[in-house]
Amino acid sequence: AGVFTHDPGFTSTSACESAITFIDGDKGELMHRGYPIDQLAEKSHYLEVCYLLLYGSLPTATELETFEHTITHHTMIHEQMHNFFRGFRRDAHPMATMVGVVGAMSAFYHDSTDINDERQREIASHRLIAKMPTIAAMAYKYSIGQPFVYPRNDLDYASNFLRMCFAVPAQEYVVDPILSRAMDRIFTLHADHEQNASTSTVRLASSSGANPFACIAAGIACLWGPAHGGANQACLEMLKEIGSPNRIPEFIERAKDKNDPFRLMGFGHRVYKNFDPRATVMKESADEVLDLLGIDNNPLLRIAKELEHIAVNDDYFIEKKLFPNVDFYSGIILEAMGFPTAMFTPIFAVSRTVGWISQWKEQLADPAMKIGRPRQLYMGETLRDYVEIENR
Ligand code: CMC
Repeated sequence: AGVFTHDPGFTSTSACESAITFIDGDKGELMHRGYPIDQLAEKSHYLEVCYLLLYGSLPTATELETFEHTITHHTMIHEQMHNFFRGFRRDAHPMATMVGVVGAMSAFYHDSTDINDERQREIASHRLIAKMPTIAAMAYKYSIGQPFVYPRNDLDYASNFLRMCFAVPAQEYVVDPILSRAMDRIFTLHADHEQNASTSTVRLASSSGANPFACIAAGIACLWGPAHGGANQACLEMLKEIGSPNRIPEFIERAKDKNDPFRLMGFGHRVYKNFDPRATVMKESADEVLDLLGIDNNPLLRIAKELEHIAVNDDYFIEKKLFPNVDFYSGIILEAMGFPTAMFTPIFAVSRTVGWISQWKEQLADPAMKIGRPRQLYMGETLRDYVEIENR
């Protein structure tokens, strides 16, 4: 009977050693393998960051070319997998479809489910990173009753995703480079975030020896919640509910009221207590996209800008160190690009897949790895005797 600490929400428990991502929440610092996120967002791009997260160092030109080639050539999914989508109702949330389809990959890609075989682990990693955008785009196309759009090998990761979501066979679709860059940034800024809820879920699932597709499906399920990846959708829905700039003060008051469960979605963070460094870059991207698309007159985006302004100058939010997080701005960009809110969290899932996979790989290689098995503080009845049904 060992002594253990009681730590609900794991606010002060380290569950593993990791060399992937460093966060200093007080200073607002985020680094992947030592490189600050603002430099990566500015100078790098998503697939290069994927390589960095997976393998620990920036790739040489040849390494990057080989990696990009591998990912690009694994983007198609087996034609038979199309049937998985058709089994879902069209009005299913794309996250529900993704949990199912990604989980079902382990029923399909048998040659990459053996976690003890290094080569199989590698193939599973590449397959997941490559196929997630295809799966997310297909979930979307299915939900709106449009034909699936196949990936193309001549497009980069972000452009390919935009095309798979927005192209229709009836006409040529040309990806705007500014939108493609903004999409790539959304992917890059969400790529990994150390031991957040979904990553911890992937690690916990994997600690039992579960196969990689099952583990990533578990991560997707956890990400869906509104306190985590679901916040970007919840944020846009909140803006719709606010409906007009003159109702903002009312919602601000509700957010401050302890008897009202309402919170400002897209505000606050468990670890960042001064600012979210991803939000700084994302805000720039949001301004760029809004400029390009000229949507000054989009009422939702006007409410978002006004809400941001009022909240960051409000004493409650200043005192509690609550500021817009990455999902506040990513939601604005995705809305401006024309994505329905239900696609926001699937896009987060696409981005985070590399983080989940990198942490999964790291855990499997860790000699200290054990099955995750938290303890509890038992608060129930003490010993009592069984009571026959007629005496209850
Ligand atoms: N609106 C109003 N009040 C808030 C908010 C908010 N968004 N967030 C926290 N607070 C208050 C909270 O009521 C509490 O007040 P008090 O000390 O008087 O009880 C205080 O601030 C601390 O909050 P907490 O819930 O103890 O903090 P936490 O670290 O457990 O929660 C959080 C972090 C992100 C879950 C929370 O800030 C939240 O619910 N935010 C809205 C949802 C959101 O935007 N989530 C996305 C996070 S970033 C992307 C990701 O990780 O997926």
